[in-house]
Amino acid sequence: MSHAARSFAVRRIKPLVSDAAWARLRDPLGRRAARGPAAKSRTEHLAEMDLTQLAKHFRTDKWGNHRYTPHYEYHFAPLRDEKINVLEIGIGGYAREGRGGKSLRMWKHFFRNAQIVGLDIADKSFVDAERITTYRGSQTDPEVLQRIIDEVGELTIIIDDGSHRSEHVRASFAYLFPRLADGGFYAIEDTQTSYWPERGGSEDLDDPTTTMALVKSLVDGLNHEEFVDEAYEPSYTDRHVVAVHCYHNLVIIEKGDNLEGTRRRAILRARYATPA
Ligand SMILES: C[S@@+](CC[C@H](N)C(=O)[O-])C[C@H]1O[C@@H](n2cnc3c(N)ncnc32)[C@H](O)[C@@H]1O
Repeated sequence: MSHAARSFAVRRIKPLVSDAAWARLRDPLGRRAARGPAAKSRTEHLAEMDLTQLAKHFRTDKWGNHRYTPHYEYHFAPLRDEKINVLEIGIGGYAREGRGGKSLRMWKHFFRNAQIVGLDIADKSFVDAERITTYRGSQTDPEVLQRIIDEVGELTIIIDDGSHRSEHVRASFAYLFPRLADGGFYAIEDTQTSYWPERGGSEDLDDPTTTMALVKSLVDGLNHEEFVDEAYEPSYTDRHVVAVHCYHNLVIIEKGDNLEGTRRRAILRARYATPA
């Protein structure tokens, strides 16, 4: 019942009935006016959940097997109502027909106005719905990655929950990070595989080909303005990674302009000063 109808009832009906009759009338009126959880639509109800509640509701392992959702909530909450495009690599269910889509549904209800896009090596078109679009292809295929950008538009959030093989993770990042929106986020999940040769990683912590080697190089790049070698040419990621948040098995990379300036001149002056 609308506020106007409720106040009409209070003014016009209440004076005409006994206290007991009004009490009987008022209770259901009050419940409906307060719009308790039972009266809410499913969409309204889901839109009020936090990300961990949504992960439990849609049964994605981003909470449970993993503990990713509080980290995502921390970084993504300011974007919750924005009209953005979110891409997740890896829709779930692998080759099993009719399986997958849990996290895409979770993101849809977390990001109330976003377009949610999923990419999977297997056909997951059954997951397509209002504000959810799926693509079939490999995360290493620049053609499908470019087609997504051309058709969907600029991506503000990219989550790599695909094959988790270092070679694939690095290929997707190399293609997509330069095309990510300024101020956007690039997340890489399940980075534990970086240490597992069986999953395309390496036990050698200094192996330069792994996912975590990429992440460590981004951390160095954050400080590129402090490198003493004046001939050093900053890379794209040196100039555009502004933060690297490393959590257990999850990395969230922030994009922006990493050009704050340096105070290294004093060091250089001292180093190259000619002795008197
Ligand atoms: C861990 S599941 C994704 C789970 C889902 N994001 C969720 O949280 O509910 C990984 C998915 O990545 C897909 N995949 C594996 N290799 C891929 C590749 N090279 N490119 C794209 N998707 C791939 C698999 O088919 C599988 O469905």
